[in-house]
Amino acid sequence: MTEKFLTKSYGKRGPQAVKAHYDAWADSYDAEIAENGYATPARCAAALAATGLGRSAAILDLGCGTGLSGVALAVEGFTVIDGTDLSPGMLEKAEKRGLYRQLFPGRPDGALPPGPYQAICAVGVISPGAAPISMLTTALARLPAGGALVMSLNDHGLADASYTDGIAAVHGHGPARLIFEEYGPHLPGINLNSTVYVFEKQ
Ligand SMILES: C[S@@+](CC[C@H](N)C(=O)[O-])C[C@H]1O[C@@H](n2cnc3c(N)ncnc32)[C@H](O)[C@@H]1O
Repeated sequence: MTEKFLTKSYGKRGPQAVKAHYDAWADSYDAEIAENGYATPARCAAALAATGLGRSAAILDLGCGTGLSGVALAVEGFTVIDGTDLSPGMLEKAEKRGLYRQLFPGRPDGALPPGPYQAICAVGVISPGAAPISMLTTALARLPAGGALVMSLNDHGLADASYTDGIAAVHGHGPARLIFEEYGPHLPGINLNSTVYVFEKQ
């Protein structure tokens, strides 16, 4: 029987442990996630498309994993998508999809590829068990004024004040305006929901 990883994905861990977890999961990630009805990539891509962002705008798929988020962006018609991920095993799978312009190994210090990017998409990435909330301000800093950042936060993140406080700080008097927020299905197979947020950089 294939080893299951999903329920082991939400503990707190640092970049080395995140990398090891996703490297070990890379071969079976798509199947296990599909089995549980992974809905968030399509919701994030649709929310980004609804901002009116040009379909040839350069987008960074931050924490692209095996590329399911890139596929959702491509379905919405976006054509210039770069990806980055901490896990070389996940990146190898993303590469095979042939839809990314360029793929970059993620950096443990959180530094992002130089871009320029008009939008950043972080689906299932800024979350307990993956990237810390500080990644949100790092990503916003990479965008020009008017740029868009779409991200999801699952129920585990929504229950963790470090994540929700970080989101409130960004759009309170911070570097971005919250232009979309919607709670909905994330992984219905394990009864997990997520909120999709779109921020516009000020
Ligand atoms: C749940 S997966 C989501 C992958 C993809 N976005 C999707 O929707 O299928 C989380 C991914 O984020 C990556 N990740 C976690 N922290 C990261 C960081 N600081 N920088 C880049 N990637 C990171 C992990 O390696 C993993 O591939």
